[in-house]
Amino acid sequence: MAIDNGLNSGDSIQIRAITPDGLQDFAAMQELEQLVWHMPQALPLHQVLTVAKNGGILLGAFAGTSMVGILYSFPGYLNRQVYLCSHMLGIRDDWRNCGLGEQLKLAQAAAAKASGYRLITWTYDPLESANANLNIGKLGAVCSTYVVNCYGKMEDTLNQGLPSDRFQVAWWIDQPQEIVLPAGTEYQAIPWRLRADNLIEPVGEPDLSGEFLNKATRVTVAVPAGIQLIKERDIDLAKNWRLVTRQAFIPLFDQGWIVVGFRRLPGVPVNEYILVKQEAVDLPKPPWTKR
Ligand SMILES: CC(C)(COP(=O)(O)OP(=O)(O)OC[C@H]1O[C@@H](n2cnc3c(N)ncnc32)[C@H](O)[C@@H]1OP(=O)(O)O)[C@@H](O)C(=O)NCCC(=O)NCCS
Repeated sequence: MAIDNGLNSGDSIQIRAITPDGLQDFAAMQELEQLVWHMPQALPLHQVLTVAKNGGILLGAFAGTSMVGILYSFPGYLNRQVYLCSHMLGIRDDWRNCGLGEQLKLAQAAAAKASGYRLITWTYDPLESANANLNIGKLGAVCSTYVVNCYGKMEDTLNQGLPSDRFQVAWWIDQPQEIVLPAGTEYQAIPWRLRADNLIEPVGEPDLSGEFLNKATRVTVAVPAGIQLIKERDIDLAKNWRLVTRQAFIPLFDQGWIVVGFRRLPGVPVNEYILVKQEAVDLPKPPWTKR
């Protein structure tokens, strides 16, 4: 598969499937995995090959002959429903923020639709703003599932130092991706302030009991724009962000709120998730939700 890209960088990129007959692509994929996540070991070749032969969708983004992006996904099955599990999306760091992640996901959705999938799921750290912007803001995935310490203690450079809490998103590729936000009042679940050292800190604990929340049609949950920088400069502050956002999302999801939007706040290193009530969203329930 080759697609025309709409990338901002002006460079020519080809996105194509990684198929079982292209063993050199698998070697390049392993190298890129180690470059992106600094993992001691890449996924084993026998595993990845088996996925590619059995309904998985594996894509590479190539600048000339160099692989600069990978996407790895495999079939999932739960409660009598088949869907696609998207396990890894990685872009070489000198190619980030120019739309390549989005192009790989759109190519994945096209290939998945052609194979008969309706739903794609994956997990990501809700404190990672670039991922949130891509997944929720640009692609239109939604989330009402919060998994505490999903993968246990992780030692790669991106994940080390914080519990591996994750959003599990639902991306309904056969539904309109644009959700119209309901009019009405908005409730800010986590107040924050800018410290003298320019790091953002949450103020107090989320208050989800008040009448303002009951009257709201939208709730916002703030996250810092640069969690990796905060981890480097003040690990206790990073841990506090993990805790307060966990304390906000779990009860909000239990009360029937769902994440449908993500926005950057101008002039400050803060972003906000936007949640609405499930009833305001005309989407099927994913098979892993209990509600
Ligand atoms: C997450 C990742 C795949 C995104 O790929 P990408 O090619 O940079 O994605 P895109 O450029 O399509 O989209 C990213 C968006 O986030 C924005 N963004 C970047 N940093 C941001 C921040 N701190 N706050 C808010 N938005 C931010 C970008 O500007 C871009 O939006 P735009 O197109 O409106 O400008 C890439 O950063 C990556 O490989 N990260 C490391 C591995 C990883 O976390 N993988 C995902 C979990 S398996």
